[in-house]
Amino acid sequence: MLLEEVIEAYPKRLLLPSVETIVVRPLVPEDFERLFKYFSTQLDEKDTAFLKDNVRDPETIRKWCANRNYERVIPLIALVDDNVVSASSLHMGNFGWSRYVGKVRLTVAKSHRRKGIGSLMLKEIEEISGKLGMERLWAEIVSEAQEEALSLFLKHGFSKRGVLKRLAEDPQGNYHDIIICIKELIPY
Ligand SMILES: CC(C)(COP(=O)(O)OP(=O)(O)OC[C@H]1O[C@@H](n2cnc3c(N)ncnc32)[C@H](O)[C@@H]1OP(=O)(O)O)[C@@H](O)C(=O)NCCC(=O)NCCS
Repeated sequence: MLLEEVIEAYPKRLLLPSVETIVVRPLVPEDFERLFKYFSTQLDEKDTAFLKDNVRDPETIRKWCANRNYERVIPLIALVDDNVVSASSLHMGNFGWSRYVGKVRLTVAKSHRRKGIGSLMLKEIEEISGKLGMERLWAEIVSEAQEEALSLFLKHGFSKRGVLKRLAEDPQGNYHDIIICIKELIPY
């Protein structure tokens, strides 16, 4: 399926198990303020410590909103009453095997956890990946610090494929393993 068709499928209104409705759509430049507010107020230090970008820096968020390149990254947000309650992204390579392995990142607002939003966003990412011809999804989980995420990914058909020992240092100077979880989108 063409990338344009994948993006044009949004915004979508999706129903949570709690019967709340969320709107899921790709990020647009006008989202800067609501996304910055989300990262500043809805994730705590433990959540942000291992993210790959400094989401508390407004410039980081401004760049994400302004410089979108859907061929490399598809950023999806979920909204409730115009507030961001989840930010997720699918990262794609553009050559060789990396074109078929999508990397997933996922966060949900503290105020809206355990309602099925993380699961729903992951399903959206998976659906997009399938439409774009991806063969595998890849998630990196920090041991001890991201046990909720590990549980979520395993529940959704990912399996542990590798452990990079003592790779990630937290702000207190403690080292954590990085667990690589993979989901096969095409049976082999
Ligand atoms: C991981 C995270 C995205 C889960 O979002 P969520 O919307 O609460 O997840 P869901 O409600 O869809 O839960 C799905 C499953 O995840 C697991 N899970 C989620 N929160 C959990 C918790 N606090 N304790 C144990 N398991 C948990 C459970 O298996 C749950 O299934 P269940 O509700 O049937 O038990 C959220 O906790 C988060 O943003 N964490 C910080 C960021 C992070 O670690 N991101 C991962 C890096 S890729």
